[in-house]
Parts: sequence; structure tokens; C-alpha cells
Amino acid sequence: MSVHFSDRLSSRLRSVQAVVAFTGAGISAESGVPTFRGKEGIWKAMRPEELASMDAFLRDPSLVWGWYSQRRAIIQSVQPNDGHRALVEMEALFGGLPVITQNIDNLHRRAGSSTVHELHGNIERNYCLRCGAMAGAEVLLKEGRPTCVRCGGLVRPDVVWFGELLPEDAWDASLHAAGSADLFLSIGTSGIVYPAASLPLHAKRSGAFLVEINPEPTPLTSSADEFLQGSAGTVLPALAALARRVRGEASEEGGKNHP
Ligand code: OAD
Repeated sequence: MSVHFSDRLSSRLRSVQAVVAFTGAGISAESGVPTFRGKEGIWKAMRPEELASMDAFLRDPSLVWGWYSQRRAIIQSVQPNDGHRALVEMEALFGGLPVITQNIDNLHRRAGSSTVHELHGNIERNYCLRCGAMAGAEVLLKEGRPTCVRCGGLVRPDVVWFGELLPEDAWDASLHAAGSADLFLSIGTSGIVYPAASLPLHAKRSGAFLVEINPEPTPLTSSADEFLQGSAGTVLPALAALARRVRGEASEEGGKNHP
């Protein structure tokens, strides 16, 4: 499938300094990680407040832990896709490309992106509610309850649950990156979970050219400078190829002017 890019976007790509990506579940869909909303979304079959909240966890730690263990197993069995890899390629082309992600699946890091701000945590990390110790896989299961190997306290996944604040460092870094972007790519997100969803408009208000990549329009679409309708695994590699071409041309022109 060929992707149409406007002349405006091509000329932006040629001159931009700071490119920032903001991603949601859609970028991992082609790796085989289910999204949250839509026909086959996780929240069609499950109620978030029964699985992704502190109340739910304290009510039934085994149930919530079991659900996260299943998701962790799916995530660890899949691979980053062409969309994740195209962002890594563009990072090299632009001399940096911070990725702000709502995803907890670690696929951007596994693909090779070097700056990843995880707004909703990371499913591969856990921590003890009593002593605060961070834990990877070393969690004891006592009758299904995740238990800290150091102090015996209850261990939870290091992800953001409904009603919780975002990690301060990741949020501050994301606000800063969005506010400094010349080109902001909003990729594979329904754009309805706040405060993360405020970042594209923050970037635009701060002067960024706002591009949205999604097979479906979202509440953000009418504010985007360019809506690239399609899957991340198709559109992002095409965008990276365009960037490679126009930046190659730009550096050749530069070479001609300054032999
Ligand atoms: P959603 O499931 O709400 O939205 C996924 C978006 O990806 C939709 O707009 C789809 O149209 C789009 N999409 C599907 N396939 C795609 C593809 N191949 N390429 C590009 N886009 C595609 O997921 P998020 O917006 O990430 O929060 O959801 C935001 C937050 O809501 C999540 O981080 C999670 C959830 O509740 C927490 O867990 C705190």
C-alpha cells in the first residue's frame, strides 16, 4: 500500500530538528499485543476497574496478578514490528527521537529506541507495597499472592492503574519533549486517556507540526496538521523512507553550497 504525504510534510521533514513520537497500543497491535478499545479491545471483555485499580488488587491480588502474568507472557512472546523499527531508523536520521509511550510492553526499548518515556509504567517491573523493593521476575507466589522475597509484603506490577498519578519523572520529561518538538507524531492511540492525551495539543500549541497516524479517525484528528490514515507498521516505514530521501537531498544541496 502506498502512503500519500503532503508537500508540507516533506518540507517539514527536510528542515526539522526535534522530532518526538507519542505512542499508544495501536503501534504494538501488529506485534500481536491486543489494544484496549475497538472491536477486539481488552476493555470490551473486561472492566478496567476490576483489574487495573488498587482497589481491585487489594480485593483479589491473585486475580489481578494472574491477569498481568498472562499479559506479560503474551508480551514476552512477541517481537517489535516495522513501526517500532522505523522510529529507531528515524532516531538515527534526526540525531535523536524521544518516544513518549502509554504502552507498558517494553517493545520500543527492545526495538532499540534509546530515549523512551513510559507514562504508564512497564509490565516487566514490579515493586513491593511494603518495603518498596523493585523486583523483576523474582516474586514468590504464596497461594497465588505475589509476595516480596525480602520482606513478605505484597508485590504489584509497576504500571499505572486507574485513579493513580503518572510517574513524575516520565511526565516532566514528556512535557518538556512535547513542548520542544518541531514535529510531533501521535501514533496508534485513541487519545482519550488523560493526562497523556493532552500532549499532542501541548506540542501543537508550542509550535510543533502535528501528525497523526491511525487507521481510524480519533478526537485528535481534526486538530492534526496531517492525518496519515493507516497502520503504524505501514505508514512509519514509508515516513522513514521519505525522511531518508529528503534529508539526503538536503545534505547534498548543503554540500553543493559549501564544497
Ligand atoms: P486504545 O486501545 O484506546 O487505542 C488504540 C488505537 O490504536 C485506536 O485508535 C486504534 O484505531 C489504533 N490502532 C489499531 N491498530 C493500529 C495499527 N496497526 N496501527 C496504528 N494504530 C492502530 O489504546 P491507547 O490509546 O493506548 O491505560 O489507550 C490509552 C490507555 O488506555 C492505555 O495506556 C491504558 C488504557 O486503559 C492504562 O492502562 C493506564
